[in-house]
Parts: sequence; C-alpha cells; structure tokens
Amino acid sequence: MRDLLRHIRLNTGIKRKILTHPLTEMIVACWIKPHRLTLPVVPLSSLLRESGLQITLQQLHLTQSDSPYNDVVPLCFLAASLHPRRILEIGTGRGTTTAILALNHPNATIVTYDINPAAHENLRKSPLASRIDMRLIDIHQDLERLRAEPPFDFIFVDGEHLESSVRRDSELAFSLLAPKGMIVWHDYSNSGWLLGYNGVAEALADFAKTYKLATIEGTVLAVYKS
Ligand SMILES: C[S@@+](CC[C@H](N)C(=O)[O-])C[C@H]1O[C@@H](n2cnc3c(N)ncnc32)[C@H](O)[C@@H]1O
Repeated sequence: MRDLLRHIRLNTGIKRKILTHPLTEMIVACWIKPHRLTLPVVPLSSLLRESGLQITLQQLHLTQSDSPYNDVVPLCFLAASLHPRRILEIGTGRGTTTAILALNHPNATIVTYDINPAAHENLRKSPLASRIDMRLIDIHQDLERLRAEPPFDFIFVDGEHLESSVRRDSELAFSLLAPKGMIVWHDYSNSGWLLGYNGVAEALADFAKTYKLATIEGTVLAVYKS
C-alpha cells in the first residue's frame, strides 16, 4: 500500500491527509499490523524484577512530539525495577521523559543526546537540569567518549525512526549496555509507517533473531532485558 501510494500522483498535502486519516490507520491496524508487529506481546509485570514499585510523576505539559503518559509510566516502572546507576536516552526531544527519569532516579547519572539545539532548551528550564548530562551532538559522533565511560544499565532508544537509524542506534545501545541492563525502544507501532518514517518494527524484527525482544501490552514500547 505504501509503495502503491508512492506512485499515485497526488499533491503531498492530500497524500499526507489520506495517510494520516483515522480510517487509513484502522486499515493499517487490521491489515498490516499482523505482518509488521511480530514481537511477542507481554504484560509489563512480566518484565519487572520486583513488585510493589512506586514511581513519582510530575505534572507535564505534553505535546504531540513527547512520549505520552501511556508509555512514560511503564518506562518509569521498567527503569525503577532496575535501580539503574547510569541511564542513557538517545533523542531528548523536549526532555519530558528525561526529566521524569531524573526525578525518579536522584542518584543515577542521566545522559541524553540530541542533535537539535532547540531540544535541550525546555529541559534547561527544569529544576532537574543540573542533574542531567545534556549532550548536543549526534550520538554516533561521540563514540570515543561513550566507549571510555562505564556502560549503561538502562537505555531508551528514541532518536530518528527510519529503519537504518534504528538499526544503528540499536547496535550502539547493545554495545553500551551493562550486564543485566535493559533497552527500551519507543514507537514500535504502525504510526508513521505509511509516511515512510517509522521503521522501528523492521529494524527490531532483525534484532529479534539474535536477542529476546518483546513489546509491552497496551504500549508502543519494545524491550530487551538481558
Ligand atoms: C522522538 S524525539 C525524542 C522524544 C523524547 N525521547 C521523548 O520521550 O519525549 C527524537 C529526537 O531524536 C533526535 N535525534 C535524531 N537522531 C539523533 C542522533 N543521531 N543523535 C542524537 N539525537 C538524535 C532528534 O533531534 C529528536 O529531537
């Protein structure tokens, strides 16, 4: 369908409207989903190393570009169950997830990367800013520093979602992961697939041949737990 639409001559605005229409999303969900989203679906509780965990949430001003509460909350529980000493985020965005992770892990080192100078602006205003190591550089240009540092216990991969980028970011994440660590990917979904900018599922289908990956029920999070 994506290839078919690519060949139909329509103005880009109309094409975008068709591709993002709820009806199109519904067709995609019924028709394409079973073929693309093949990771086993597991409940959050099956990935937590302890029960009775508590997390702290602060009031957030979320926009469309932020990870929604529906994903941020399970993500926080996953991190909390690890008691991580070092957390890495690939793709700060507006920094809302970064701030929540910092709030919940006062003793952890939180490192977040983004290439967009505007990305860290919002985060810098947060009272948690001093506790977050914001790195304004393409993460793949900073390998020397990353390799010289201790590994990370918890890594959130949420950079560019093109298949090639997710592959590259994931390879890096696996190489930086501490023993018993966890990697979480965002946007393991069909959203944006028709528009050609979400290849998370395709990249992860390949990694799933080597690593045990799963997606969390009711979320668009995919997880690797060592
Ligand atoms: C989806 S947003 C991140 C959202 C954020 N993690 C959240 O939970 O709200 C993706 C971000 O990744 C950044 N990005 C893309 N490729 C990158 C790279 N190679 N290195 C660092 N940041 C990158 C983009 O500039 C963008 O701000």
